[in-house]
Amino acid sequence: MKSVMSRRMSALLAVMVMGFAVSACGEAKPPQPPPPAPPEYADKHMPDGYWGNEEIIAQGKDIFIGKENIDVNCASCHGKDGKPLKAGARDFRKGEHMAKFSDAQWFWRVSEGIKGTKMKAWKSKLSEDDRWKVIAWESTFGLKGQEYSVAEEKWVALGTAKTAEEVAAEKVAAEKAAAEKAAAEEAAAKVSEPAGGEAAGEAQTEKAQTEKAPTGEAQTEKAPTGEAPK
Ligand code: HEC
Repeated sequence: MKSVMSRRMSALLAVMVMGFAVSACGEAKPPQPPPPAPPEYADKHMPDGYWGNEEIIAQGKDIFIGKENIDVNCASCHGKDGKPLKAGARDFRKGEHMAKFSDAQWFWRVSEGIKGTKMKAWKSKLSEDDRWKVIAWESTFGLKGQEYSVAEEKWVALGTAKTAEEVAAEKVAAEKAAAEKAAAEEAAAKVSEPAGGEAAGEAQTEKAQTEKAPTGEAQTEKAPTGEAPK
């Protein structure tokens, strides 16, 4: 009796393990970042003050669950809490997947839908403002406490997004630091150059010049022909 039980148990366990392995495999496939938003959507961004705004998020939730308009029920496929109900829908609870989208890409997908999937275009049923509200809500499933920083092109903690000016200033400072470092390294290399280094360098330069010379001559000879048609 005991052995039958344990055999059953181990069979059950095997099935569970296999099931887990299969689903783990499915999950392991790295999600591809979406294609860049087309030009008409590339410059669309979350309105100022919407990220993390409780009121906006609450309104977005009502849209998402079909409370605002029963014809618009995102939750019927995407799940009330972002856990997909329909096969193929992305799991909105996975922050690392969701972070592959910029705000413009989310907006574009919601506006135009995705051809060949159940995801319709919602632009005729939702105003731009409503689409942003629903995205503000959607983002809380996997990216709560974050906002998309347009200038940095990534998701960052709420309230820490840098302005384009700040990003540009940082870039200039980084380039300056890199140039200074390179100059310092060059100076250090000159000081520590071995005694034979210069002679070897000269020999190489001579060789290079000798080799190059014929080609240089050939080019000079050709030059007049090139100019002739003018
Ligand atoms: C009839 C089912 C269905 C409904 C309703 C629906 N979606 Fe989708 N949605 C999908 C499917 C299927 C996909 C494509 C697969 C996927 O998620 O990648 C998708 C994709 C998306 C994507 C892009 C994710 C991606 O993987 O590219 C977003 C964003 C999205 N839906 C938001 C919404 C919003 C917001 C609503 C409500 C206005 C909504 N969906 C309503 C089924 C649905």
